[in-house]
Amino acid sequence: MYYPDELIEEIRAKNDIVDVISGYVRLQKKGSNHFGLCPFHNEKSPSFSVSQPKQMYYCFGCGAGGNVITFLMEYENYTFQEAVKVLADRAGIALPEMEYSEEMRKAESHRSRLLQINKEAATYFYYQLRQPQGQLGYEYLKERKLSEETMKHFGLGYANKYSDDLTKYLKAKGYSEGLIREAGLANADEKHGMYDKFWNRVMFPIQDINHRVIGFGGRVMGDAKPKYLNSPETPVFDKSRNLYGLNFARTSRKGNIILCEGYMDVIAMHQAGFTQAVASLGTAFTSGQANLLHRYTDAVLLCYDSDGAGVNAALRAISILREVGMTGKVMNLEPYKDPDEFIKNLGAEEFQKRIDAAENSFFFEIRILQKEFDLSDPEEKTKFHRAIAKKLCEFSEEVERENYIEAVASKYHIGFDNLRRLVQTYAAQTGLAKPVERPKSGVQKKNTPEEGIKRTQKLLLTWLVEQPQLYPKIKKYISPQDFTEELYVKVAEKLFADLEKGTVNPAAIISMFEDPQEQNEAAALFNTKLMEMETKQEKEKAFHDIVYAVKRNSYLYDSGRLGSDVAALQRVIEGKRQLEELGKAHISLD
Ligand code: UTP
Ligand code: MN
Repeated sequence: MYYPDELIEEIRAKNDIVDVISGYVRLQKKGSNHFGLCPFHNEKSPSFSVSQPKQMYYCFGCGAGGNVITFLMEYENYTFQEAVKVLADRAGIALPEMEYSEEMRKAESHRSRLLQINKEAATYFYYQLRQPQGQLGYEYLKERKLSEETMKHFGLGYANKYSDDLTKYLKAKGYSEGLIREAGLANADEKHGMYDKFWNRVMFPIQDINHRVIGFGGRVMGDAKPKYLNSPETPVFDKSRNLYGLNFARTSRKGNIILCEGYMDVIAMHQAGFTQAVASLGTAFTSGQANLLHRYTDAVLLCYDSDGAGVNAALRAISILREVGMTGKVMNLEPYKDPDEFIKNLGAEEFQKRIDAAENSFFFEIRILQKEFDLSDPEEKTKFHRAIAKKLCEFSEEVERENYIEAVASKYHIGFDNLRRLVQTYAAQTGLAKPVERPKSGVQKKNTPEEGIKRTQKLLLTWLVEQPQLYPKIKKYISPQDFTEELYVKVAEKLFADLEKGTVNPAAIISMFEDPQEQNEAAALFNTKLMEMETKQEKEKAFHDIVYAVKRNSYLYDSGRLGSDVAALQRVIEGKRQLEELGKAHISLD
């Protein structure tokens, strides 16, 4: 952690969670909590709760939860440090300068100079587009049916017909020739000296996820070649780790991200309301980009051109997505070439239908594969079935593979058992693919015994946070070591120490974790809902049962691992005694 804990806690405490979240979600007060529609999953009735006393949020629908820092990390996709910085600014708290080595500082300031010069160039292009000399560009974009608002939103611009005006402008602003060239905005040769890279083109500034301009694409306003010129890679422009439009798409909350090929496609889709669209940067889709997408979604819709090149690009993208554990779906835009043309001709409503009808990527692959075979020829048909079987071996998880075998068999009229045997033959020969780690989903898992015991532990922690006066009554039975998950133990240690001091501050406990996933889990520990109970008697029984179950599980766990360890033996003996006592004890909730 870069900042001291006390400082983080001060920043957290000075940013009231209800204030901050109200800026993003419409909240309504109900009892001691505020409720609203969860921004992290789609829902129609509010299950997202924000607690002012606890300074925490929690969604009973999807399990998202944490403190004000978690919220910004999840909503804005900030890192822990970024979220802390934003909140410090918001509360007017000065952060200490980070300690960088000389080398890091140099690299950092060089990067920020490059970002500055890009921003300067983007501003210049933007301004030119709105000048008489930019009329041509402006009309071209109008012609392509972009509204003034869209041009503004994407910061579109125009590079003049002169071949050195940007260079002159930037030099006048104090940027060195070296930096201008390094940013890829100009080139130089002996005959001409410095000359602008982009001229007489409409300009698309490329932004990173934090809306900083990192490079440009420039399009000719006609049929000349090359159609697009792009900035070269620079220390701030890594084409394999950025995506055009992601700065907007990442907060679009549509439940999916549409991946397409072109800048114009992204812009046309956003203009039509599909703000979840992104494109790669004039290069093929990479695994770095797949990983980047995976931070924001599990559902990628491939929306590539309908031509042969587009199909091949889609096939490659599918396997790249699979590598990082995602399954894509493929959209069909026929009879149009790309999303831009599709929307221009058929409109947003029809486009939405194509989204809804997107094809499972495996079926897409099989359908394309089929084109290589003449199915009227039995020989070819057999080859086709073999090829399918080989592909089915890519599913390492049995249930999934079986489901696909069933689906493909019925779709292509192959006997299920025959196909299954064929798959087994190939699997035996070449082995199955390595299991791909599945993305964690927000869907609640089935109840297993482990889930059950985890749930009682959560209930206990929630209860203690809500009624700290119960702590003295249970502390002789329960210690942090009675919790089974490492994260629970950590949380309990801190919570019990706080309770000893007579203070409870669950929101502070959450900032002990930097990983948002862990913050979610910690938040769940303080937000586990118990069935509504009427009488005090019922409640007392429930509380007793919970304490007993936690202790019993811990006792069974210890005794199950009993070896020659004397300390463990003592714990077991003591545990047994406590358990017996607890069994007879009455714990009053007063
Ligand atoms: P397309 O040729 O499909 O262009 O290239 P497009 O986006 O549909 O463009 P319009 O509609 O004709 O204006 C897709 C993407 O490939 C890259 C660009 O990133 C483009 O958006 N590309 C294409 C280049 O980098 N250079 C080129 O010469 C052509
Ligand atoms: Mn196009």
